Amino acid sequence: MLRIALAKGRLESESISYLEKCGYTFPEKSDRKLLIRDSENNIELLSVKPLDVPIYVYSGIADIGICGTDSIVESGLSLIQPMKLPFGICSMVVASFPDFKFNGRRTKIATKFPISTKKYLSSKSIDADIIKLNGSVELAPVVGLADAIVDIVQTGRTLKEHGLTIIDEVYKISAMVCVNNVSYRTKRMDLQFFFDKLWKLLDS
Ligand code: PRP
Repeated sequence: MLRIALAKGRLESESISYLEKCGYTFPEKSDRKLLIRDSENNIELLSVKPLDVPIYVYSGIADIGICGTDSIVESGLSLIQPMKLPFGICSMVVASFPDFKFNGRRTKIATKFPISTKKYLSSKSIDADIIKLNGSVELAPVVGLADAIVDIVQTGRTLKEHGLTIIDEVYKISAMVCVNNVSYRTKRMDLQFFFDKLWKLLDS
């Protein structure tokens, strides 16, 4: 049996429909069910918060995880990432008002992604204060809580609606498949079978 931790939210329906296109079926699928099975193919899906996917995989509770690159970077965990999926494409960016510049004065950056932000700032040798928020990050510069934000941009609509613009790209994001280190060695046949189906769809 293979257990897959799947990121809830924006990637969820695309991840499930990708697996369905690969031939898996989830008859118990519903908005509220957090654990669904494809008994015929011995697959179990756990529906978890995106940032929790790497934790389930790293701990070995799940053999496989499907989440955005951002969740993997933010976990700080080292996971095998054998496959990028063709959806969930977006970017982690620094955004602010068009005249924003990192300058001498200590900048305040609001974000849901403190690890990604810290890595970006240290790669640019920028000293700034990080304010960790849990959502609605675009509001922070508008009301004066922060000078800039580090956040995900997909369509760019949320930035635009708040008069913000992209200052720099931190990294590109897509849906990613990650695998537990032990499962990678002990469940080779099952994983091979699973990845063959995914590769086949990717190549078609
Ligand atoms: C994400 C992200 C941005 C928005 C970007 O937030 O943090 O706020 O989507 O999407 P766009 O470029 O298509 O406008 P999410 O919807 O997950 O909500 P949250 O702010 O409450 O975390």
